[in-house]
Amino acid sequence: MSRTGLDIRFEGIGKVWPDGTRALEGVDLAIPAGQFCVLLGHSGAGKSTLLRCVNGLEIPSEGQVVIGGQPVNRQSLPALRRRIAMVHQHFGLVARSSGAANVMAGAVAQLPLWRVLAGIYPAALQRRACAMLEAVGLEEAHLRRRAEQLSGGQQQRLGIARAFMADPAIILADEPVASLDPALGREVLELLRAQASEHGATVLCSLHQLDLARAFADRIVALHRGRVIFDGPPEQLCERDLAVIYARAEPAPSFEPLPLREAV
Ligand SMILES: Nc1ncnc2c1ncn2[C@@H]1O[C@H](COP(=O)(O)OP(=O)(O)OP(=O)(O)O)[C@@H](O)[C@H]1O
Ligand SMILES: [Mg+2]
Repeated sequence: MSRTGLDIRFEGIGKVWPDGTRALEGVDLAIPAGQFCVLLGHSGAGKSTLLRCVNGLEIPSEGQVVIGGQPVNRQSLPALRRRIAMVHQHFGLVARSSGAANVMAGAVAQLPLWRVLAGIYPAALQRRACAMLEAVGLEEAHLRRRAEQLSGGQQQRLGIARAFMADPAIILADEPVASLDPALGREVLELLRAQASEHGATVLCSLHQLDLARAFADRIVALHRGRVIFDGPPEQLCERDLAVIYARAEPAPSFEPLPLREAV
């Protein structure tokens, strides 16, 4: 089932929100197919915005994203989205649907609508779902329960199994281990890493855990106030870089004590 990944190029990406907040500025990056690239940066640095520009959930105000040589735009997005999967911090599952239905949802883009509506899935896809679930360490009992009845770790594994169902060329993972305990976090990153190294998928993953970024990334890109301030292999990231990456994003607000009113 291995497929070639797709390379991602960010060309002069900028993003300004309607309220004037600037989230990204002049981001130029070329991420080759099959690379496991981790985005680091303080809260509000622009990691999620950058990830979301890849699959068109956000539209850059400046520049363009190019995937496999194709600029991301309204015409190219429907076909590109079939090859891109996203893993969310808060899982993004349908809470009241069963684990099984949530995993199969990862393959709906490949199926004719009647099959999706009737819930009739080809046997090959069902076998694939079973293989994916085994790979992420879930059991049959988990599949029968509603997603909301699973623990955080089980829900995230379900989210990953769903993401892998379509054999994606690109995986966008936005803080995929934020809700997991450290051991489970490592397992989830191992799964993502294997998707890059064994199946050639290009993985772009935002993380807050520096130790995990160092252990798993082929490459670390650090953002600070929407700009790239470090780009290189984990071993090149030094204390001085970290001091800048995690420097306070905004100056602390100063609170002037209110003048006391005199008692009347
Ligand atoms: N929909 C929006 N409207 C206005 N501003 C937004 C919107 N989404 C994000 N922002 C702002 O854009 C900037 C970048 O946000 P983003 O969510 O990309 O940061 P992040 O690095 O993912 O942070 P975190 O680590 O907290 O998830 C922040 O200043 C944020 O407040
Ligand atoms: Mg974020």
